[in-house]
Amino acid sequence: MRLVMLGPPGAGKGTQAKVLEERYGASQLSTGDLLRQNVADGSPLGAKAKSFMDSGGLVPDDVIVGMMEVPLAKLDSFVLDGFPRTVAQAETLDAMLGKLGKPLTAVLLFDADRATLLRRLAGRWTNPRTGRTYHLEFNPPKVAGIDDQDGGPLVQRPDDAADVVAKRLETYDAQTAPLVEYYDRTGRLVRIDGLQAIGDVTAAVQKAIDARSGAAA
Ligand code: AP5
Repeated sequence: MRLVMLGPPGAGKGTQAKVLEERYGASQLSTGDLLRQNVADGSPLGAKAKSFMDSGGLVPDDVIVGMMEVPLAKLDSFVLDGFPRTVAQAETLDAMLGKLGKPLTAVLLFDADRATLLRRLAGRWTNPRTGRTYHLEFNPPKVAGIDDQDGGPLVQRPDDAADVVAKRLETYDAQTAPLVEYYDRTGRLVRIDGLQAIGDVTAAVQKAIDARSGAAA
């Protein structure tokens, strides 16, 4: 399984990528999580990325592609969460996977209206160690502020502040939304209604994967 999760901030990409990782053992490769880890570690890559992330813009393509080359070469089965995010990244990904003989299985597009996205991001709490997310209203942890799985503390992401979210949504519309056309044109896009409850979105994802596996068999 080699999937891309596409969609605006708060659409549910990370939530569903974690489910697929647990269900199929396909590694979740989240560029957002990898970048946040680099920022937390104070690495040179984190230092380059931080100002772009804090402002809601995109980290330059060469930094992102450089970060993804090694994991993509190593893994056979993966769920790309937050990558690619520009047409240039998508073209580079296609070229890299073409050389490796590991083409994408499908690109899943999650969408939801603006009001829903804002509500989801405002109520999101994240385990910074694992990237697992919860929501105060839609998916609360058993104990407030604590991850059900590993007992780690949950925090709110600084880029979920309202002004940065507004910029992230603008960035999505300008730089990432064109990928919908890019993947649709090549027959790889599957649209998933991200407005449904988390379990129903998972069922729709499962159905899409089964349909693609059937088509490939
Ligand atoms: P990144 O971390 O990738 O953020 P994002 O794309 O903005 O996506 P989010 O993580 O905010 O949303 P999501 O769709 O995963 O939603 P989630 O499942 O958590 O990127 C951060 C920054 O890093 C970027 O702004 C950029 O600067 C940089 N960056 C990253 N990748 C880059 C790249 N390739 N190129 C350049 N720069 C890059 O769900 C949200 C909330 O809703 C959660 O609380 C969840 O519990 C809840 N929820 C989920 N699904 C549902 C549902 N169906 N019903 C109700 N609640 C739900």
